[in-house]
Amino acid sequence: MFSLSFYSVTMMLRQIAQKYVKWILPIFLFISILSFAWRRSLVTTVFLNCQETEVVKNTSLDTKILTDNKETELVILVWVYPYGERFPLDSCETVYGISGCKLTADRQLYNVADAVIIHHADIMYNKETLPQTPRPHYQRWVWFNLEPPLIIQNLHFLDNLFNLTMTFRQDSDIYVTYGRIEAVKEPQNVTIPPKSKLVAWVVSKWYPGAPRIKYYEELKKYISVDVYGNEHMKLSKQDFYNTIIQYKFYLAFENSIYKDYITEKLWSNSLGTWSVPVVLGTSRKNYERFIPGDAFIHVDDFPSAKELAHFLFELDKDDERYRKYFNWRHHHHVKVSDGWPGWYCKACRVLKEQTEYQVIPSVEKWFLGNASF
Ligand SMILES: *[C@@H]1O[C@H](CO)[C@@H](O)[C@H](O)[C@H]1NC(C)=O
Ligand SMILES: *[C@@H]1O[C@H](CO)[C@@H](O)[C@H](O)[C@H]1NC(C)=O
Ligand SMILES: *[C@@H]1O[C@H](CO)[C@@H](O)[C@H](O)[C@H]1NC(C)=O
Repeated sequence: MFSLSFYSVTMMLRQIAQKYVKWILPIFLFISILSFAWRRSLVTTVFLNCQETEVVKNTSLDTKILTDNKETELVILVWVYPYGERFPLDSCETVYGISGCKLTADRQLYNVADAVIIHHADIMYNKETLPQTPRPHYQRWVWFNLEPPLIIQNLHFLDNLFNLTMTFRQDSDIYVTYGRIEAVKEPQNVTIPPKSKLVAWVVSKWYPGAPRIKYYEELKKYISVDVYGNEHMKLSKQDFYNTIIQYKFYLAFENSIYKDYITEKLWSNSLGTWSVPVVLGTSRKNYERFIPGDAFIHVDDFPSAKELAHFLFELDKDDERYRKYFNWRHHHHVKVSDGWPGWYCKACRVLKEQTEYQVIPSVEKWFLGNASF
């Protein structure tokens, strides 16, 4: 039985072989070429990943498409730690509830990074400090900047390289802020901490010609200001809150007057310590896009520093009027930003949501032009 069927199968195969003999060689060749090509591409992939400066050709990695972002984990490369300040890279999910983000500072992962976030102040002196390797087609570059035009330079380095902006300007693709006001569900009781002192100011960078310095020089003729900082009274980070909370007013003077440029001077230094902010910076109208109009005093509300000083003395004597600067706190509270990790995690969240192709031909034009405020 077995030998018979074995015989007939052999016969059948021989018949088939004879019929298709002319195809065997081409099929064999085709399969060999295919497997060779496949192995080649694997080798290329592995090789390119170890050689940071090699040219990246399209590899199997390139089949990623942007529309997948919502489901897959995004790899976000922190190109440089901003100002060299290290921060934990694993807190997006645990601290900020943003999942599907892998932050990394490992440049070896450049070839697989979905986005590269580049902090301007750390690359602005040398164009070569930008990534030099061609990028995978799906990879987006994010221009991260927290400084006003006065402080930064060489924006032309960025021409035709970046896909998204990440700044304190509200019209950035990724808007990062030093703080914000949030409405509370239930009206809250407001207890103003006891105040024994009048005006405080903490200042680190002292550029003599700067508007805020000139204003202070004028103001101090009429009212005494306790100045803390590098060249003034020392104030450690630990003592900051307990010291400033004793003051009725805090000079939240920005180093630049620029659209939406409102920094920790307002948020943590002043509102965070329950000192009424006296602001110098962008316009009152611009401030009011971020905080209630009755939460602060603007230097522009007065024709001169003398009148401002006079007004502060008046409020000092009139508790009822002073208390009005805290009324908004019945319905709002201050959320102070906790800095780097939160900002990078937010960037990842936006990158997951915003998946269109986009190129910024000139970051310089965007940042220096049309900045009406
Ligand atoms: C690489 O991928 C991009 C995007 O899919 C494509 O435009 C480009 O032509 C590819 N390059 C090569 C060499 O295949
Ligand atoms: C606010 O003050 C009122 C009156 O003193 C008190 O009954 C209420 O419990 C307070 N609410 C909160 C949230 O502390
Ligand atoms: C990002 O910008 C680069 C450089 O302008 C451009 O070639 C690329 O297509 C852009 N990519 C995306 C995903 O927008």
